[in-house]
Amino acid sequence: MGKNLWEKAYLKHKKEFFHKHPSNSVKFFVEFLKKKKFKFEGNALDLGCGNGRNGLYLAKLGFNVYGVDIVKEALKDFKNTAIREHLSNKIKLFQRDIGEKFPFKNNFFDIAIDINSFPNLISETKRKRYKTELFRVMKKQSYYLIYVYSKNDGYYGPMLKKFPGREEGTIICPDDNIQRKLYTINELKKFFSDKFRSILDKKIKKKGEMFGKMYTREFILLIFQPKK
Ligand SMILES: C[S@@+](CC[C@H](N)C(=O)[O-])C[C@H]1O[C@@H](n2cnc3c(N)ncnc32)[C@H](O)[C@@H]1O
Repeated sequence: MGKNLWEKAYLKHKKEFFHKHPSNSVKFFVEFLKKKKFKFEGNALDLGCGNGRNGLYLAKLGFNVYGVDIVKEALKDFKNTAIREHLSNKIKLFQRDIGEKFPFKNNFFDIAIDINSFPNLISETKRKRYKTELFRVMKKQSYYLIYVYSKNDGYYGPMLKKFPGREEGTIICPDDNIQRKLYTINELKKFFSDKFRSILDKKIKKKGEMFGKMYTREFILLIFQPKK
């Protein structure tokens, strides 16, 4: 069901969910990695990669990028842009559910990013599988960036009362019918704490347009390292 809704959203709501330029959260992550004198080579995982705006940015910086998404059309656009920008040798794409087993070897990734895709995992079983799989495929000393909607987000936040999903912290958005889970920094830290060490956390507030109206958006950004 989520897959069909996202297929529809990809065709109808590009302005809201599929931007052209890399996310500022990924640019922030890159600056963080530079400060750590991290080498921009090796393998990067882009979970819920969409049209590839972030994956292409990481590929340009030197990483081999592995993108995973459920929407075929988004992966097609990612692939075509990669070809146009002569980066296709650095990009591998997988049409998969990020709540299922990952098609990668153990200790394979140097970095991983998830930009607003984790909120789509509504079942606890899928979230736990995602965490276990992510831990399995990440190298020791690798970094993982996660960027999600805050419970105080001006657009989704009020829906917790107005349009709640079945599970605490979830909403069913009336604009696209997609269910999402909203988080606080502490909830995310607690969820990942058995397998990942929290390195940095940050709230990000900005103005943003959703479906023709302006909102004060609030997101949370965390950087983790696997406890390996
Ligand atoms: C808000 S968009 C963000 C896309 C991309 N990360 C970006 O920053 O442009 C969320 C993405 O998650 C994907 N998605 C949603 N549920 C998913 C799932 N269960 N498995 C894989 N991808 C999923 C959607 O198709 C969509 O591309």
